[in-house]
Amino acid sequence: MDLILALDVNNTTEAYRLADQTADSVDLFKVGLELFTREGPELVRNLRNDGHRIMLDLKLHDIPNTVAEAVRSCCDLGVELLTLHATGGPAMIEAAAEAREREGSDTKLLPVTVLTSMNQEQLIAIGIDRSPADQVLRLASMALQAGAQGLVCSPMELESLRQHHGQSPHLVTPGIRPAGSSVDDQQRIATPAAAKTWGASAIVVGRPIRKATHPNQAAQHIKDMCR
Ligand code: C5P
Repeated sequence: MDLILALDVNNTTEAYRLADQTADSVDLFKVGLELFTREGPELVRNLRNDGHRIMLDLKLHDIPNTVAEAVRSCCDLGVELLTLHATGGPAMIEAAAEAREREGSDTKLLPVTVLTSMNQEQLIAIGIDRSPADQVLRLASMALQAGAQGLVCSPMELESLRQHHGQSPHLVTPGIRPAGSSVDDQQRIATPAAAKTWGASAIVVGRPIRKATHPNQAAQHIKDMCR
């Protein structure tokens, strides 16, 4: 199971510093919208040139052609994991998967099913009268059938997704907290070891590493807990 550190900082200096500090213990670095919209593809290229593996968390969602072109650009950047929104539908995900295929890229496309910020009430507000758990399963089946290599999911969904889809999808989960560490604004959390037991391919961790006095030690501690 890979450990992915969320580089939730807003400038390149901080991003490179954190990556340098933790490179021994962290497997991939996640660049999200906040950092990407500020610093752009150059930051990703530089991190790649320094030998780092990247998850680009852009949650793409647009018409199929636009997403396909964006996927091509992200494949060119050499990112290992790329997120998109499953609610873009099968045509969008198929177009993304075809673009990846045409590029001959190894980038894994990971749709996000239901944002963890969405509850039943929020789903009803956008016209979906299914429970969040049912909606996750429905979107997951559609997305994997449309050609996605995996999914971003909450730790609570791991077991059920493994039951339905077996071992091959690459399942990446945030919402991870080592026992005893601050929960911050996360709601339904799991320990790194539980996520591994439930079938995570990779865990995304941010603040427990970023805010630690010694980020590399904190990351190494998390890795050790999963052995
Ligand atoms: O600091 P923390 O460990 O909570 O960071 C988790 C990372 O995972 C953040 O970058 C956050 O945006 C992301 N994320 C999440 N929950 C989701 C999807 C992404 O926490 N459902």
